[in-house]
Amino acid sequence: MSANHIPVTAPVIAIDGPSASGKGTVAQLVAETLGFHYLDSGALYRIVALAAQQSNIAWDNADALGKLAESLNIQFKQNEIYLNGTQITEAVRSEEMSRGASEVAIHPSVRAALVHLQHSFRQTPGLVADGRDMASTIFTDAKLKIFLTANVEIRAERRYKQLTNKGLAPNYKQILADLQQRDCRDSARIASPLVQMADALLLDTTNRTIKQAVEFVLAAYKNIL
Ligand code: DC
Repeated sequence: MSANHIPVTAPVIAIDGPSASGKGTVAQLVAETLGFHYLDSGALYRIVALAAQQSNIAWDNADALGKLAESLNIQFKQNEIYLNGTQITEAVRSEEMSRGASEVAIHPSVRAALVHLQHSFRQTPGLVADGRDMASTIFTDAKLKIFLTANVEIRAERRYKQLTNKGLAPNYKQILADLQQRDCRDSARIASPLVQMADALLLDTTNRTIKQAVEFVLAAYKNIL
């Protein structure tokens, strides 16, 4: 085979972690700094939950959800998400869809339907992918694997502030209880549970700013180049 035919596999930085850990913000900033593409895999499960609600499909109907997930027409344009041509960026970020995403994500039929789409984000010069199973299942050969977490009270406080800043009147205790329930569901499920891989670096952001967390990832990536 000539050098021209050697397939180019773009490097992947996998950032996994629990809900509201800040991994999305960190992953996006790392991607921007490196000029890499960005995959928010949680958004895909949120879209399935929203599409199911719009089609009156229950979040525990594994067969129907799997078929639905295979047929979705999803587009990411700049920072906006479109489902069948309709912009749903804010709709999928609601607390209801956070719960729905965690519920539909337990079904292997749904997870299998989203694999190809996730792989299609892997393009040169590279990809930063955030989620729960980026390192364990979707991009097992990621160049760098990060497990980004923070203690659950801090995560609840951060989510509380985000919602307050949006002009909502959230209930801290409810947010904390929801996060604990989602942590439990995402970690205890059989299909691709949230786990820290043996070759993943732990990044605990309980006492770190976003900037410090981004610097940690960039330094770790530089280190392995
Ligand atoms: O990252 P997030 O909060 O947007 O994810 C929402 C839910 O989607 C999360 O509770 C579990 C599910 N999810 C998953 O199962 N696998 C992923 N790679 C990403 C998210």
